[in-house]
Amino acid sequence: MDTLACSGLTKVYEDKRKALENVTFQVETKGIFGLIGRNGAGKTTLIRILSTELEPTSGTASINGFDILTQEGKLREKIAIVPQEARAIRWMTPKQTVFSYLLWRGYSYGDAKRLADQSLAKLGLQEYANVLNSKLSGGTKRKVLLATVTASEAEVIFLDEPTTGLDPISRRELWDILRTLGKERFIFLTTHYLEEAEQLADRIAILKDGQLVSIGTLSELRKSSRFQYSVKLPPKALVPTIKEAQVTTSTTGITQIMTNEEEAFTLAKSLAEKGVRFSIAPVTLDDIFFSLVGQKARDE
Ligand SMILES: Nc1ncnc2c1ncn2[C@@H]1O[C@H](COP(=O)(O)OP(=O)(O)OP(=O)(O)O)[C@@H](O)[C@H]1O
Ligand SMILES: [Mg+2]
Repeated sequence: MDTLACSGLTKVYEDKRKALENVTFQVETKGIFGLIGRNGAGKTTLIRILSTELEPTSGTASINGFDILTQEGKLREKIAIVPQEARAIRWMTPKQTVFSYLLWRGYSYGDAKRLADQSLAKLGLQEYANVLNSKLSGGTKRKVLLATVTASEAEVIFLDEPTTGLDPISRRELWDILRTLGKERFIFLTTHYLEEAEQLADRIAILKDGQLVSIGTLSELRKSSRFQYSVKLPPKALVPTIKEAQVTTSTTGITQIMTNEEEAFTLAKSLAEKGVRFSIAPVTLDDIFFSLVGQKARDE
């Protein structure tokens, strides 16, 4: 089985800032893997290490059998990355961007031309192929960057916040592209949009202050979460006391009670008997994320 395996990855930057601490996990390099965490949690640092741009202070990792420290040359042929700060070069066209990227990766002129055309078509960019990148909308510029890595035939694609700053419709368009891409390659993406991770990722990992705090499918994350169900009550409803629960009230007055399955269903039954309006649902990734990285952050 092809895997991405990290073992004890730790990164301390020169200024002694610990960006990653003993990160250890293994995932099959198939489908889409979503890495989430607050600003500064260490997502980009992890991507930079896995893509061989940065060496860890200690620990190691391998992707599909290639070690990041001892086989970085071979590994680089298998991976492609769109870094967090990447921007399409303004004075180039999408066609030139993808073509030159492929030449840089070592493809022959003919192959680069063929693969660039294929990739631009795949991403629906034909009509923009010869327009300057500077004239494209933000969403289309992102697609151009995706077209480069898609064109490359890399087995593993790292995308660091590919949809940040896009409008909801452009974001969904990119989701469709990523879903399709995720059927052919392994995509390792970071995001601040929890809905994005929930919608796209087959497996999700949560980083907090450089440490891995949870990893798995959404249902595995739910199972290992302290609370599995969320009951919501309308404003001014009498909030019952429950032993094992996390109770919060939003600014709109809606009370959310997160609790375990048994408590949630007992509560639902008694609310129904009293004729109180309520909703009950399994906890979302949003709920899990906030209960792991801290309710304080959510209130802020
Ligand atoms: N080159 C660097 N030198 C020193 N410290 C760094 C460097 N790069 C990152 N850091 C620090 O390491 C920590 C992790 O940063 P990183 O960029 O990996 O987080 P992130 O999860 O990608 O954040 P964001 O969501 O804002 O992109 C932060 O405290 C950051 O300030
Ligand atoms: Mg980052």
